[in-house]
Amino acid sequence: MNNRADTPVTIIGLGLMGQALAGAFLKVGHPTTVWNRTTSKADRLVAEGARLAPTVGDALTAGSLTIICVTDYKAVHELLSSSGIELDGTTLLNLTSGNSAQAREAAQWAEQRGAHYLDGAIMAVPSMIGTAEAVILHSGPQSDFEAHRSTLDALGTVTYLGADHGLASLYDMAGLAMMWSVLNAWLQGTALLRTAGVDAATYAPFAQQIATGVAEWLPGYAQQIDSGSFPAEASALETDARAMAHLIEESEAAGVNAELPKLIKAMADRSIAAGHGGEQYPVLIEEFSEPGDD
Ligand SMILES: NC(=O)c1ccc[n+]([C@@H]2O[C@H](COP(=O)([O-])OP(=O)(O)OC[C@H]3O[C@@H](n4cnc5c(N)ncnc54)[C@H](OP(=O)(O)O)[C@@H]3O)[C@@H](O)[C@H]2O)c1
Repeated sequence: MNNRADTPVTIIGLGLMGQALAGAFLKVGHPTTVWNRTTSKADRLVAEGARLAPTVGDALTAGSLTIICVTDYKAVHELLSSSGIELDGTTLLNLTSGNSAQAREAAQWAEQRGAHYLDGAIMAVPSMIGTAEAVILHSGPQSDFEAHRSTLDALGTVTYLGADHGLASLYDMAGLAMMWSVLNAWLQGTALLRTAGVDAATYAPFAQQIATGVAEWLPGYAQQIDSGSFPAEASALETDARAMAHLIEESEAAGVNAELPKLIKAMADRSIAAGHGGEQYPVLIEEFSEPGDD
């Protein structure tokens, strides 16, 4: 990692994640200023060489890069709206989790007050911070990101997504959608197999192989989505829909929850009714691109 260790950094918010972020900067020698509402959470970092800012206002003027990592955007607004706050001397990088509208709104709010604002999303747990495994997504003006990229390298694999401040949150949400879909599919299969006495550990390696194999289809399927053309090269959607019916029948017969396969089949059935039964699975993007039923 290319890291200029003499660059000062400020971390506001010393929960589990904020402490890991500050610790990673201290580890490679950055002069690190910290602030937290509950001051005692700074004790270990101060013992390791961090400077404790007396107020959040002082923290924001300590250096040219301030990272905020608190519970949610409500907390960010509460912090930045308190009295004595100057935002025009620093680049604010907000690594607090939220949605894209919150990120765009926070960017507008901060920029109106003279701040350079980057939004980010952390795709890692605290123990991964400071290693290449910690993927941290950034969005906002590229020049602001590039100005601090070498400093941010101390945190892990830093990635720039684009000028739209909402992109980091959107990628975060897309990643969560992927994570829960894979886990839910695995749980459905595990519940089915347990009815035949197959335990979760026995099924897990098989499930892992399937998930990895399916993941390899994604780049090709993405080309179909981007071109808007879905020739059935491997199988047609109506073939998939018949297999979905088997999964529902199997689940119901085994006394296993069939809500998830029914939901998936309902989407496929709508697409088939709209004339897409002879096309390949990614044609369902049209179903996913509409609000749907609640
Ligand atoms: N932990 C993870 O694995 C993980 C992974 C990815 C992303 N994240 C994101 O990182 C952010 C922080 O997570 P965390 O795990 O560090 O949470 P945490 O341990 O619960 O810490 C929350 C932090 O927010 C501060 N805070 C909350 N409300 C505040 C307010 N109104 N004013 C000032 N400070 C306030 C807390 O201050 P006090 O100490 O005074 O309460 C504390 O520093 C969240 O948005 C989370 O989604 C976390």
